[in-house]
Amino acid sequence: MAILPIIIAPDPRLKVKARPVSEVNAGIRRLMDDMLATMYGVPGIGLAAPQVDQRLRVLVLDVALKGEPPQPLKIANPEIVWRSEETVECEEGCLSFPEQFAMVTRPTEAKVRYLDYDNAWREVHAKGLLAVCLQHEMDHLEGIVFVDRISTLRRSIILRRLAKAKKAKSAPVPA
Ligand code: NI
Repeated sequence: MAILPIIIAPDPRLKVKARPVSEVNAGIRRLMDDMLATMYGVPGIGLAAPQVDQRLRVLVLDVALKGEPPQPLKIANPEIVWRSEETVECEEGCLSFPEQFAMVTRPTEAKVRYLDYDNAWREVHAKGLLAVCLQHEMDHLEGIVFVDRISTLRRSIILRRLAKAKKAKSAPVPA
């Protein structure tokens, strides 16, 4: 399994809509495995294919708590079947926004239909952290990042901070 480079915001590749996979074949399974290894390596609880420069509707998640056995989910072509009217505000972060966090409001529960690792349709009724994480990752497939769901002011502060960090990283090292 390979560790893939994660795109860091601001980057136009995070703003692009991903296309469905025709089926979960060996190539997609390998992408899912690599994405999961990449996510565990950081560590993180979710990763969407556009974050590793693959414009495909593929994502991986694992919201198991520390000390619990891993509960990896490998998902392709997810579709929201139902969303609760009730919403919840949660602090979110993102592997493409290192060390940045913000409060985001989303439906508390969601039912999602998706193609699994064996190319079979499944449905998950997500609640709690899984519901938050799943909706966050599905946003990535639409080119939506979590800071698009917060105030303009807060978003510009976070993006400016990341742009600055990127610039500092790419600046030539003084002799
Ligand atoms: Ni994210």
